[in-house]
Amino acid sequence: MTQDELKQATARAAIDYISPRLEADSIVGVGTGSTANFFIDYLAEVKGQFDGTVASSEASAERLKAHGIPVYELNSVDGIQFYVDGADETNPALELIKGGGAALTREKIVAACAEEFICIADDSKWVDTLGSFPLPVEVIPMARSLVARELVKLGGDPVYRQGVITDNGNAILDVYNLKIERPTALEDAINNITGVVTNGIFAKRPADVLLLGTSTGVKTIT
Ligand code: 5RP
Repeated sequence: MTQDELKQATARAAIDYISPRLEADSIVGVGTGSTANFFIDYLAEVKGQFDGTVASSEASAERLKAHGIPVYELNSVDGIQFYVDGADETNPALELIKGGGAALTREKIVAACAEEFICIADDSKWVDTLGSFPLPVEVIPMARSLVARELVKLGGDPVYRQGVITDNGNAILDVYNLKIERPTALEDAINNITGVVTNGIFAKRPADVLLLGTSTGVKTIT
């Protein structure tokens, strides 16, 4: 199977997972990226079964609206039943690296609101130890050099993601060469650097369920 076919299979599995549990007033949080895009396309098939969505990016909001799926502001909903999103890496504890699509801050906010966070990923994302994928860090633009120097002190090699401005108007530093043995501690340490908006380690709020697309089928890992 191609990587896209694996992504499609895991996105389809997410629909199969949530659709029996959806109710007329359910709100679904929707992530960002190519796997999330497949999920959005399949979600359109069941759009009569729930109230609407909260999107983690402008791009996902546009795709949802194009399918006629209602998109709400997070501040106008009482809660989110499911959050479905991809990842750049996942370890066996379902701690993630996210933010390859620069949407990490809104993704982390929506995940924090969700009763259940379902990660959908192909098996190229499965790792024992996080950190092979460069860790995205969203920073306030004027603090970019300050934050970069602090990230070097933590053992990383930050690289400015040229030409990318997040939906929040900020910059992204991608941090190479981090071997993330203690994800929660590093998530806290980086978030404590002045000028950091958030970083792409999702360990304090990991996924609850991973639907991992493999050549022998989609595995459900909790
Ligand atoms: C966007 C993300 C994505 O979930 C992550 O980059 C995975 O993307 P894809 O499904 O295209 O592989 O965190 O900020």
